[in-house]
Amino acid sequence: MIGGKRFITEFPLLGPGDLLPPRIKGGLFKTFYGREATLSYFGRGALWAGVNSLKLSAGDNILVPAYHCGVEIEAVTMTGAELRYYDLKKDLSITAADLSPLIDAGTRAVLLIHYFGFPQPVEKIKALCSAKGIILIEDCCHALLSSLGEKPLGTFGDLAIYSQRKSLPLPDGGALLVNNSALSPKLPTEKPEFSVTVKKCLGMLLRAAFNLDPRNELPIPLERLAASFNRSVARKSGARYSTGLEINQERCNLAMSELSRRIMERTLASVVIRVRRENYSTLLKELTETTEVQIIRPRLPQGVCPLFFPLLIEGVSRDALQERLLKSGVGSYVFGADLHPTLPRNRFPNAKTLSRKVLCLPVHQELRAGDMSIIATTLRREVKELLHADAH
Ligand SMILES: Cc1ncc(COP(=O)(O)O)c(C=O)c1O
Repeated sequence: MIGGKRFITEFPLLGPGDLLPPRIKGGLFKTFYGREATLSYFGRGALWAGVNSLKLSAGDNILVPAYHCGVEIEAVTMTGAELRYYDLKKDLSITAADLSPLIDAGTRAVLLIHYFGFPQPVEKIKALCSAKGIILIEDCCHALLSSLGEKPLGTFGDLAIYSQRKSLPLPDGGALLVNNSALSPKLPTEKPEFSVTVKKCLGMLLRAAFNLDPRNELPIPLERLAASFNRSVARKSGARYSTGLEINQERCNLAMSELSRRIMERTLASVVIRVRRENYSTLLKELTETTEVQIIRPRLPQGVCPLFFPLLIEGVSRDALQERLLKSGVGSYVFGADLHPTLPRNRFPNAKTLSRKVLCLPVHQELRAGDMSIIATTLRREVKELLHADAH
């Protein structure tokens, strides 16, 4: 709690109600996507397994987006594939016509990110991939429960990956959906340590109970308790379960925890979609575009379940603005600040700009219209103050 005010988190927090018995019999993936997915600890593990199932030969390349968080690119690199980057437009889109000239005899697949839940023109891109005899991998790590019209994202490509822990209050959770029966990726075999799952859940429950900024400290006795628990878990498991942007084969082989499955199977998809859409629409009404604050997606097409409300911040420092929002009790999220070291940034001007200027506002399912008003008012005020500070 900051100054007695509720802190608005960028991700949904776990509440005790989320741990009650499951509501969905068939599982969230079966119900929403029509087929079961392989559930992994991280989305990166799902991607690694998916790309490995292509059985690449030396010199094969995969088209990958120049704007990314880095770990998805590293997962592709780990399979031995050569990377072929493509730039995005400033609204984060890419078309089949943009991709077509990049495909050559060595191209085996295209990795397509549906940024922040907004669909790429995936039907046309799938048609291009089919015509060229290559695989389409949909990266739906931002797009759980999001659809193009009525068809869920992740059901167009040959493979799709998810990171459901970004949209739902889960201690862990990624997934691989296989739509092409010729591909049979290896399943993750290692179950996560129960103590780690419990530790993560307790941390999330405490954060929610105390309504803390996730970067703030817990009250001292709880902080000590958490620190000693963390030390004992770290001694046993090292960094294997860290949600930082590292990746290795050990992490890729981890399955999703049973506790995450339970929480997922309590999730009412229709509520998550409805509330995220309502919150996005409220922000669209409350935020007026200015030179400094540009709305990247000013329309919310039918079927979209937004992960965030992405803005392009111009003329003031994105990072300074994020810091000010945080101090005022509003969490926000930066995606892609550290582009993969193999990217020749200067040849990808839009990705470079997006990496420096995109700031995402929260719209998750625990927030309501009043929270959106607070976010909009706080943003306006902090931009004004930054401009004022810069002028002096
Ligand atoms: C677009 C994208 N793809 C893949 C990943 C990997 O997901 P995870 O963190 O669950 O491994 C992330 C997030 O880190 C992401 O943002």
